Amino acid sequence: MIFDVERARAHFPALHRRTSRGTVPVFFDNPAGTQVPQQVIDAITGYFLTMNANSGGRFATSERNDAMVQRVREKMADFLGASRPEEIVFGQNMTTLNFALSRALGCDLRPGDEIVVTRMDHDANIAPWLRLADDRGLVVRWVDIRPGDATLDFDSLEAALTGRTRIVATVHASNAVGTINAVDRIAGMAHAANALHVVDAVQSAPHVPIDVQAIGCDFLLCSSYKFYGPHLGILWGRYDLLASLPAYKVRPAHDEPPHRWETGTLAFELIAGLGATLDYLASYGDDDPAEAPAATGEDSRAGRYKRAMRRLQAFERELVAHLLDVLERMPKVRIAGITDRARLHERVPTVVFTVDGYTSAQVAERLAREDIYVWDGDYYAMEIMKRLGHAIDGMVRVGLAHYNTHQEIDRLEAALRQL
Ligand SMILES: Cc1ncc(COP(=O)(O)O)c(C=O)c1O
Repeated sequence: MIFDVERARAHFPALHRRTSRGTVPVFFDNPAGTQVPQQVIDAITGYFLTMNANSGGRFATSERNDAMVQRVREKMADFLGASRPEEIVFGQNMTTLNFALSRALGCDLRPGDEIVVTRMDHDANIAPWLRLADDRGLVVRWVDIRPGDATLDFDSLEAALTGRTRIVATVHASNAVGTINAVDRIAGMAHAANALHVVDAVQSAPHVPIDVQAIGCDFLLCSSYKFYGPHLGILWGRYDLLASLPAYKVRPAHDEPPHRWETGTLAFELIAGLGATLDYLASYGDDDPAEAPAATGEDSRAGRYKRAMRRLQAFERELVAHLLDVLERMPKVRIAGITDRARLHERVPTVVFTVDGYTSAQVAERLAREDIYVWDGDYYAMEIMKRLGHAIDGMVRVGLAHYNTHQEIDRLEAALRQL
């Protein structure tokens, strides 16, 4: 089914705002944060008009607030495949939630216990574990990557797992090279070693359907501002673990999940925005006759999210193939990561590259002058940048989303050709 990108773009007011030069910017900075549909903006505004109150009051606005939070929790649970809404914890962002999780998990660990981290991860899924290791006298074991295609080295992972491994922390999709890791396989390996598996799904959530049951992990974290929502972090955990771990909480707060993990007052208006984000995404799961619910057996809300994400994924795969075509035509451009067109299902549409004779900052600045927004540097994925030999200047990152177009990629090509 053909994806109507103009129809998608019509939902995003920021995509149509002209710069002072009169051009419409190209948003290729999506891995750092996506634009939001109008309905998300409306939901956040509407929150303040109709239900702005703290939780737990015996009056209308507070009751509306609590009902809204519960509804969004249910939607988020379906989006990730959680077995119950209480497994969804809202927080400030992924990094903050992961520090809280690591701290609680650390309470049960003894000096000499081991933690496995990877060189592909964003530092938000490395630093919390390094800090914990320092605090508790733990051993950190690193999993390497294969620099050729920037994939995770499973031999290195196998070697890192020992009888003392307690936690395995891995990224689902890299925010740098775009590689999607076989997190289901990693969960199996972690559990075979009697370790818990923590998955950073910040960069996969915008691009692939996520099902925590199919992955088999114990915790998974993501951030809604990466998938067309507001700046909010989400932690999913197995209910028994969320109920039993020693969460750091204030005494009067409810002591059951998710409340024992949601420290202080939540950003309710952003949760309202997240609800609208999930409704926006679900709408893509509605109208694809080729994948009717009866045919797939996915007639639930969770099924709609899955169908929706598969549809966005199919379009993004076309876009990334085009982007790779463009970049590969340029002799000075060097791409890191999977470029084999038969393996595009192993990557998200985030592509990093260098241009001979220019630093990544220079390229990003030149593109910005053409109102093409890309990222440069290491985007906190410092370990993989080091491993790929780009610790100093980093790489240029073009991150596509379902609202990007083939014409925008052509604009990038024209701008790069001027270098
Ligand atoms: C893969 C990955 N993990 C974690 C993070 C951190 O997310 P947050 O900003 O929600 O803390 C990012 C942010 O870019 C990311 O790309």
